[in-house]
Amino acid sequence: MTELQELYQQVILDHNKSPRNFGELPDAPAVEGHNPLCGDNVTVFVKVVDGVIEDVKFKGAGCAISKASASIMTTLVKGKTVVEARELFVRFHELVTEDGDVDPLVLGKMAVFAGVRDYPSRVKCASLAWHTLKNALEDKTDAVVTTE
Ligand code: FES
Repeated sequence: MTELQELYQQVILDHNKSPRNFGELPDAPAVEGHNPLCGDNVTVFVKVVDGVIEDVKFKGAGCAISKASASIMTTLVKGKTVVEARELFVRFHELVTEDGDVDPLVLGKMAVFAGVRDYPSRVKCASLAWHTLKNALEDKTDAVVTTE
């Protein structure tokens, strides 16, 4: 394992062990995501005020990758506009599904998930919270199924 891969693994383990923004937001809509491959679920709560994500939390049961991804996602989108968060979703989707360089300056801690692109089932784990967030930002409250 390279030094960078080890660092990435540490970040994932840290966010799995101590997830940021874990819990519920009683005054925000809850949107549920479901991974059909394993049966794991995540619920994302997003409070948007004047087009800005004022607060975001998540809860649910999942593997280390899905939990770490949800945790990092919340830290990235909190305080961003809805438009910026949608752009981050696109970047993340590209990161885990397409070949190409990873620019840590643009992707921040999301870059730790670059390695999952070779493992389709892991792509679904890493994408679960992001697809759920996307639905929440589009006011879709139906359960979401990860596609990629
Ligand atoms: Fe279920 Fe990863 S194994 S989300």
